[in-house]
Parts: sequence; C-alpha cells; structure tokens
Amino acid sequence: MSAMKRKDEIQKAEGGLGVLIPGLGGAVSTTFLAGVEAVRRGLALPVGSLTQMGTVRLGKRYEYRTPPLREFVPLACLDDLVFGGWDLFPDNCYQAAVQARVLEPHHLEPVKSFLEAVTPWPAVFDKGFVKNLEGPHVKGEGSHLELVEAIKADVEEFRRTRGTARCVMVWCGSTEAYLKPAEVHASLSAFEAGLRANHPAISPSMLYAYAAVTSGIPFINGAPNLTVDIPAMVELANEHRVPIAGKDLKTGQTLLKTILGPGLKARMLGLTGWYSTNILGNRDGMVLDDRDSFKTKEESKLSVLETILQPQLYPELYGNFYHKVVINYYPPRGDNKEGWDCIDIFGWLGYPMQIKVDFLCRDSILAAPLVLDLVLFLDLAQRAAMPGIQEWLSFYFKSPQCAVNLYPEHDLFIQLMKLKNTLRYLMGEEQITHLGLDYYYDL
Ligand SMILES: NC(=O)c1ccc[n+]([C@@H]2O[C@H](COP(=O)([O-])OP(=O)(O)OC[C@H]3O[C@@H](n4cnc5c(N)ncnc54)[C@H](O)[C@@H]3O)[C@@H](O)[C@H]2O)c1
Repeated sequence: MSAMKRKDEIQKAEGGLGVLIPGLGGAVSTTFLAGVEAVRRGLALPVGSLTQMGTVRLGKRYEYRTPPLREFVPLACLDDLVFGGWDLFPDNCYQAAVQARVLEPHHLEPVKSFLEAVTPWPAVFDKGFVKNLEGPHVKGEGSHLELVEAIKADVEEFRRTRGTARCVMVWCGSTEAYLKPAEVHASLSAFEAGLRANHPAISPSMLYAYAAVTSGIPFINGAPNLTVDIPAMVELANEHRVPIAGKDLKTGQTLLKTILGPGLKARMLGLTGWYSTNILGNRDGMVLDDRDSFKTKEESKLSVLETILQPQLYPELYGNFYHKVVINYYPPRGDNKEGWDCIDIFGWLGYPMQIKVDFLCRDSILAAPLVLDLVLFLDLAQRAAMPGIQEWLSFYFKSPQCAVNLYPEHDLFIQLMKLKNTLRYLMGEEQITHLGLDYYYDL
C-alpha cells in the first residue's frame, strides 16, 4: 500500500470510462444501462446510488460541511461511461431489457436507441457451470488460453474503436456452479499451469477476470462465484497493480439481514432462528433452481449472520440459532422478488418474540445502483494506485472479499463508515470516530 496515492496525486478522471460486462443482456446489466442513460438525460433520479445521491460529513458537526460525495472525490461522471460486454444471447440491450421485464415502457422507450446500439459480443461459456442455460451466441470451442486471448481481443477492439481512456469489468453473468477453492486456485503459478492444461476448476468467469486483470482492467464480481476470491487472482491483481472486488451484490433479503442483525446484536437480544425464503421468477431465479448454482448462492447468503452475531463471543445469545435460506423459482413474479423472513428472537429473562419481514422488492432495481457505484469506485481505486482487494467496498457485497487473516465485516453501518473513512483518508480529511466528548469537555 505504500505507493497508494492521496488527493493531489490521484490521477484525474479524464476521458471515457469503458464499462465491460460479461452478462450484458441480463436483468441487472440492462437495468443499469437504461438507468444511467435515463439519469444522463435528466429523466430519472439515480436513487440507491451512494456516489450520485450521498454526502459525506467532514470535520466537526458545528462546521456543517457535508459535500455531495461525487464532488468530494474525483469520480468519473456518468457522461463519460461507455458500455460493452458479452452474452450468450445475441439480443441488443433494448430487446434484452424488454425481455427482462424490469423497467416500464415509459422508462425504456426514451432510451431505446441508446440501448439498441449496445449489442453483446459472443460469450465464453461452459454449460457445465450453468446447467439451466443454453444460448447460441458463444465463442467456438477453444483452450482456456485461446478464450482468454479472444476476450482480450474484444477488449482491445472496444478500446480502439470507442477511444476509452480507462476500463472496468463487472461480472453480471449468471451464478456459476459451486466450486470449492482447490489447489489450482491456491497460487498464480498453479492457476497459470491450470490455464495451460485447461483445468476443469477454472470457470468462464475466471477467464474473463484473468483477461481483465492482465489487461490492467479492474474487475468486480457481482455474483457469488469464486472468480477473483482466490489467492491466485489476488496475486495476479497485486502483480498487475489492479484493484479487484467481490462478491455477490448485497441486495434484497441479505441487505435487510445486515440492517436488522446488527440492530438485534446492538441491543443484546438473543436469536433462536432465522428462516428466509425467496420467491423469484427471473432468469437468475431459473439458474438458481439448479442445485449447484444455488449452493454457490446459499454459501454466500448463510455466512452473513454468523459473522455479524459472533456466536463465539455471545454463546448464550447466538450460540445455537437455526439459519435456513431457500430460493424458490416462481415465474409469475418475474424480477419482483418476495423475500420472507421469520425471525425468532428472545429478550429479558429469555422471553420469546417474533419478527416477520415480507420484503416485496425488485431485484435489479436494488442491484443497478450498486453496479454503478462499484464501477466508479474501482476506477477511483485504480487511479489512486490501490491494487488488490478493496475491502473498503464491503458495503456492496454479501460475501465481501478480505485478507486471508481477517474475517469479513458484514455490518452495513460499519461498512459505510469504513467506506467514507477511506474516502476521507484519500482526500486528506480527518477520520470521523464519532467520539464527540470534545463537544462537552476539554480533552
Ligand atoms: N439482482 C440482484 O439483486 C442480484 C444480487 C446479487 C447478485 N446478483 C447476481 O448477478 C448476476 C446477474 O443477475 P441477473 O438477475 O441480471 O441475471 P440474468 O439471468 O438476468 O442475467 C445473467 C446474464 O448472464 C448471461 N451469462 C451467463 N453466463 C455467461 C457467460 N459465461 N458470459 C457472458 N454472459 C453470460 C446470461 O445469458 C444472462 O443474460 C447473477 O449471477 C445474480 O445471482 C444479482
């Protein structure tokens, strides 16, 4: 980290920023693209985006200094974003957005020509990793290394024709089948040997990530697949001085879990059980109907409560709670997910109480602003010379990637404080500790 840049040394956000998306035709990607264009044209507000709507408090409370975050840090502006990507369906982003049934015609029609002009490149795909999908728009058979080269060629062509100064890649592709970290992921040399040998535990998302990082492009993983959350990719990112972030966007039920969980713990209320079920009818729901893809998602969703509640520190309160997560594919709901939570808690002298949460949410509406923020922040990290894992962006993820000797931080409020303090640090402002005694006493 010694070479990390601060304030005046951070490279300026000049020129176009290419946003490269494996899974370009998906619900999240098309909602993100349509939304950015609608905001650029002044047709809608970027609700849910911290970079666009948030502020950051600086100094003491009596100073009343709370600039908008996007004016405080040198982020790329929305007008500079240029989009490209891959999908196994050849539809342009307008056709794909119509099919995703997330946005209403009154939002899609005004940005139709913009969306129609964004068409995916053929995907690097392996049905072994996503059993419930079959698409015609894929690159031909090839070795792992040939496929990496094909992805890099797409990126180079995009950079050349669109004249982008910088790029960020963000995986919005389907959730891949569960992979246990294996020997081939344990070091860069093992991984590169695995690439040469077409190792079956190297998934398509890893090929995209390898192509991005070795092209000097920051990589974000929006899904729960391992992808860059393996020692080999961390080594690669550090070697190429490129930031990486993941994994699995924190939307819907897990977002609420990381809001409610810290609240229960703050009041030292006990937990006997937390049963979560989801009804989801989009393509993501269909993919997750496959046991192997769901296993990847389940791992990501289950770890959250354990780390927030710290049963090892509070065995009487959290030593024995039952946590169950289920996702049911139910086509009539489309992208409008329903997340039910039955939470069994106990209070003073062990008296039981119940909380029921029924979150009628919209998956991609919650996810799109996170993709935007992550793209802008990873580009900032690159310009600030902050390579490797970006733990300060845990705020956005269900399974935040962190150093091997740490446990991840899941509490949304600690995550937000970490994020804003990182920005204060980069911009040479004092950290805010919330001590506040100095308002009342001479310290
Ligand atoms: N929407 C949310 O709230 C949310 C939250 C967390 C994570 N995610 C994850 O984000 C991802 C996208 O979600 P979605 O709802 O847009 O799903 P989706 O099924 O609508 O879109 C995924 C797209 O990826 C494409 N794809 C699959 N494999 C590919 C490959 N190898 N290369 C290129 N394209 C590929 C598919 O054809 C599809 O168009 C999923 O993995 C999902 O689990 C979504």
